[in-house]
Amino acid sequence: MLAVAILAAGKGTRMKSDLPKVLQELGGRSLVQWVLSSAKTIKPDRSLVIVGYGASQVQAALVDEPDVEFVLQAEQLGTGHAIQQLLAPLKDFDGELVVLTGDTPLLRSETIADLVTSHRDCQASATVLTAILPDPTGYGRVFCDQQNKIEYIIEHRDCTQAQRQNRRVSSGVYCFNWQELAIALPQLTTKNDQKEYYLTEVFNYMKSVYAFDVQDYEESFGINDRLQLAHAYAVLQSRIRDKWMRLGVTMLLPESITIDATVELAPNVSIEPQTHLRGNTKVGSGSTIGPGSTIIDSEIGENVQVTYSVIDSSKVGDRCRVGPYAHVRAQSVIANDCRLGNFVEIKNSQLGEKTNAAHLSYLGDAKIGSKVNIGAGTVTANFDGWQKHQTMIGDRSKTGSNSVLCAPVIIGENVNIGAGSVITKDVPDNALAIARAHQINKQDYYDSDGRKKS
Ligand code: UD1
Ligand code: CA
Repeated sequence: MLAVAILAAGKGTRMKSDLPKVLQELGGRSLVQWVLSSAKTIKPDRSLVIVGYGASQVQAALVDEPDVEFVLQAEQLGTGHAIQQLLAPLKDFDGELVVLTGDTPLLRSETIADLVTSHRDCQASATVLTAILPDPTGYGRVFCDQQNKIEYIIEHRDCTQAQRQNRRVSSGVYCFNWQELAIALPQLTTKNDQKEYYLTEVFNYMKSVYAFDVQDYEESFGINDRLQLAHAYAVLQSRIRDKWMRLGVTMLLPESITIDATVELAPNVSIEPQTHLRGNTKVGSGSTIGPGSTIIDSEIGENVQVTYSVIDSSKVGDRCRVGPYAHVRAQSVIANDCRLGNFVEIKNSQLGEKTNAAHLSYLGDAKIGSKVNIGAGTVTANFDGWQKHQTMIGDRSKTGSNSVLCAPVIIGENVNIGAGSVITKDVPDNALAIARAHQINKQDYYDSDGRKKS
């Protein structure tokens, strides 16, 4: 049997935030979600998350994880005290317990699997995932004998100057024989600088404890402050970009592109510089996104072009051209072959196939048919000061430049709206609607020098 426990009860004082540290966001997932998603791939029989500070917030953030058991550490008296809370829920458990800290989001699932394998191969009481860090400041130092057997682990603050020269650190990730750990746990003391129960003290009471070095030391980085959070973001981003490039996505200047872990890209997508893909975004094959675009929680079809634009919580069909400088938001649905051009904002609207809005428009709460041409400067006046109202435009209709459509209003099919019209009444199919003052030409109003004649 295999159990995984994630330490997630600490406040994370060094973050200087009221948010529990493990809920700090990192590219579309919280720190603890990163750790949990790595843990899940080793298919543990039990997954326990130890919560304390902000317990209800942490539990709420993991509401979609039905297999997680939450264990409360009401007072945070140290990492050892946190694991002591497992004595009751794991009373009858027999097997290995993998302990992960909720603040190591860079840890790969393969590394956890390798740790467990090494632990089983050595028939160890415990195996500690260790790393040789260029700068080990802040980490517990691991002291081993020639056979990689751990003699003791001393926290940075409890180390002498000489001990601090040791660059081999504990990553805070361990694999334990649970039965042996359960015997060691009650023996913990608070004899250290912080007067806390340190989990690292259990190794003093266990028989055979081995170090297992992680190959890529960055995986062991614990995130304690915002500098480390930013660094972890950079590492994760480069992993995500590398993954997509290997799967056939082209990126220009990849370092300028950010992609959340939750995004899905088809092969043959191109992403140009300064583009950011967030949340549950999907992009179809052959599409080019960017430069300078942000797509949030949106579905982009195939062979779409998005340039210097923002698309949020919307759907864009195949072969659409969006931008430069368009903003599509709030559950808009754009059908295939549409064109949204310069300075066009679309909110909570549906556009049928082959409809164009190429310049300077606001279309809000509108239901627009197919093959419609929205003239430059067309605006749906959807807000009367209290409520939003709908505008409907039928297939093949055209709105002239600078038309204002005062909602609620229904424009039929094959309608033509004269430029500059303010439309306040419904327009039937096949009509030409003009709603503006007649033009008056005052002949010979000026003399040839441009002066007004008297
Ligand atoms: C810990 C280790 C250190 C290791 C480092 C790796 C101890 C004593 N030290 O130090 O050897 O090098 O991780 O990153 O274990 N937590 C609780 N309950 C508590 C205290 C902490 O759940 O009472 C949780 C925190 O939320 C966090 C994790 O345990 O996720 C680690 O705590 P933290 O204070 O960050 O430990 P470090 O000082 O980094
Ligand atoms: Ca830490």
